[in-house]
Parts: sequence; structure tokens; C-alpha cells
Amino acid sequence: MRVLSGIQPSGQLHIGNYFGSIKPNLGYQGKADQSFFFIADLHALTTVQDGAALRKSREDIILDYLACGFDPDKSVLYYQSQIPEHTELMWILSVLTPMGLLERAVSYKEKVEKGITASAGLFTYPVLMAADILLYQANLVPVGKDQKQHLEMTRDIAVKFNNVFGETFTIPDPLIREEVAVVPGTDGQKMSKSYGNTIPLFGDDPSTGSGAAKKAIMGIVSDSKGANDPKDPDTSVIFQIHKLFLTPAEQKALAAEYRNGLPYGDAKKKLLDAYLDFFAPMRKKREEYVKKPDLVRSIVEEGAAKAKEVAEETMEKVRKAVGL
Ligand code: ADP
Ligand code: TRP
Repeated sequence: MRVLSGIQPSGQLHIGNYFGSIKPNLGYQGKADQSFFFIADLHALTTVQDGAALRKSREDIILDYLACGFDPDKSVLYYQSQIPEHTELMWILSVLTPMGLLERAVSYKEKVEKGITASAGLFTYPVLMAADILLYQANLVPVGKDQKQHLEMTRDIAVKFNNVFGETFTIPDPLIREEVAVVPGTDGQKMSKSYGNTIPLFGDDPSTGSGAAKKAIMGIVSDSKGANDPKDPDTSVIFQIHKLFLTPAEQKALAAEYRNGLPYGDAKKKLLDAYLDFFAPMRKKREEYVKKPDLVRSIVEEGAAKAKEVAEETMEKVRKAVGL
């Protein structure tokens, strides 16, 4: 069984990405025969058009992944752009992909509504994503709910290819993590890089995690209850974020403190401490990797070499099937 997932390097990772993507993906590490986790830098080009920023973002995310526990002995880590077969396969799949299928893509429409340029690349984004997955004959693709339609498109494209050219691709099953709650941002909406409401995973000062994270946590919205008034933990954004770091028993105890009138300022300080403690070992690990850029580079190079082997094997089949 092969597991595969990707994340776009379109900005600094936040704790929503950690609890919604990294943590559940880490749960598959070592359980599958092979796990592929890549940085979708070609996809990020649809929104990031600043070379230095993209380069920094993808390097940061590899460090974040390693810090959080992705283990190069158990998972294959690489940048999508290191494997040109992704774009080669994308072209071959694109000639089989009906315009109507792409026109129904909700994610495309939403991005355009948000003001992202409606480029051909943004439109064909799902075909590149299909190539990312089919190239590795992945069986299982763990993603968030927002990617469900993209996975359905991947399956449609794979079935079509197999019908036209003969059995070539494994049909992947999505693993939609319905159970992973949407982590709220500091303004109470879904935490997202594009809403400017994030608590960074490692912050602008990864060695202490303070700075940006402290500012974000202290800025979380709250209602206008008086300092010592009873508070409702279920409607408090501070509590909803804090509980991610706690065991059920700890959550219960903290909820009682809210009901007993814990001032919001103190609640935020407690959350900051919990955040700092929780990520402390990962921050430490990240610092170690920051000091060893050659090691990190070699991890990605080795990952890419392993990925390339699988990708090339699939492409040989594909080229033969289509007549190239
Ligand atoms: P963003 O919305 O910040 O741009 P992405 O779309 O790049 O995040 O998401 C990367 C991964 O993180 C996806 O698997 C997505 O489901 C997950 N994710 C992003 N934001 C959240 C959130 N607020 N709560 C839970 N999971 C999230
Ligand atoms: N589109 C995904 C996202 O925005 C990222 C991604 C690209 C991906 N290729 C993938 C995820 C292949 C899983 C499999 O989150």
C-alpha cells in the first residue's frame, strides 16, 4: 500500500496546517509500505510569483516537516519540481480531461472570486494534482475536505486513461479527514494563510516561538465579558484553540476555569504557554536541522531520487501505452 500527500509552499505554516494535515499524515508514516510527502511547489506558482519567497517557503516547510517528525527513513520527502515527470504526465492527462470537468471545480471558482488571476495554470491545477498522485500509483491520499473534489477528478481521469489505453493507473482512494476539526483562526473564521488570521507553527523566531505567535495569540477575538464573569468555553475561540493541545481531562479542567470566570487575558497566557510547551521539542529539532543545511539538502535529494525511480517506472508504461 502506498500513501501520498502534498502541501503547497504558499506561505508560512500555521497550527491549522499542523493539526489538520501534518499530524494526521504523520499517523500514516511507517504504516504503509511507502509514504510519499512532497512540497507542491509547481502548484504554488499559481499564487506565488516571487522566486525568493517561494524558495524560502519550500525550504521552511521541509524544515517544519522534519521538525514535526517526518522521518526520511520512513517517508519519501521531495519537491514536486525535482521530478519533471509530473508535468510530462500532466500534459498527457490533460488531453483526456474534459473542459467540463475542470469548469465544475469549486476550488478554481473560489480562488478567482478571492482575486487570484484566472490563469490557464490555475484552471488546470487539478490535472497536475492528478499527475502527482497517479505517477506514484498511490492507493491512499489523506487530504482535507477542501480537496475532495480534486480527488474525485483524479479518479475520473485515471479511469478514463485506463479505459482508453488499458490498465495503467491504480485508482486512488481519498482519505478525507472529516473528523479533524477545522482549527479556527484568531478572528474566529477558519485559520488560513489567505485570511491573515494565523498562529504560526514555528513563528518568526523559531528558536523561542515567541514574537509573531505571541502577538497572534494575544490578539485572538473574545467577547466583552468582564474580567471575572463566567465564560462559555464552547463559544470561546481561545478555548477552541487551546483544547487542541490538551487531553480530554485537561480540557474539562480548563473549561471549568472558564466557567469560574478566568479572565481572557489569563486564558490567552495559558494558551501561549501550552503552545510553547507543545512545540518546544519540535522547535529544538528544527533548530538542529537549521544548523545542518547539507543534511537537509541531502534528505531532499535522496527523497527525490527514490521518487524519481517510481515516477520513471510509471512514465515508461504511460509513454508506451499512448504511443510515445
Ligand atoms: P491555507 O488555507 O492556510 O492556505 P492549505 O489550503 O495550504 O492551507 O492547506 C494545507 C493543509 O492544511 C490541507 O490539508 C488543509 O486541509 C489543512 N488545513 C488548512 N487550514 C486548516 C484549518 N484551519 N484547520 C484544519 N486543517 C487545515
Ligand atoms: N491541492 C493540495 C492543497 O492545496 C495540495 C496538493 C497538490 C496535493 N498535489 C497533491 C495533495 C497531491 C494531495 C495529493 O492542499
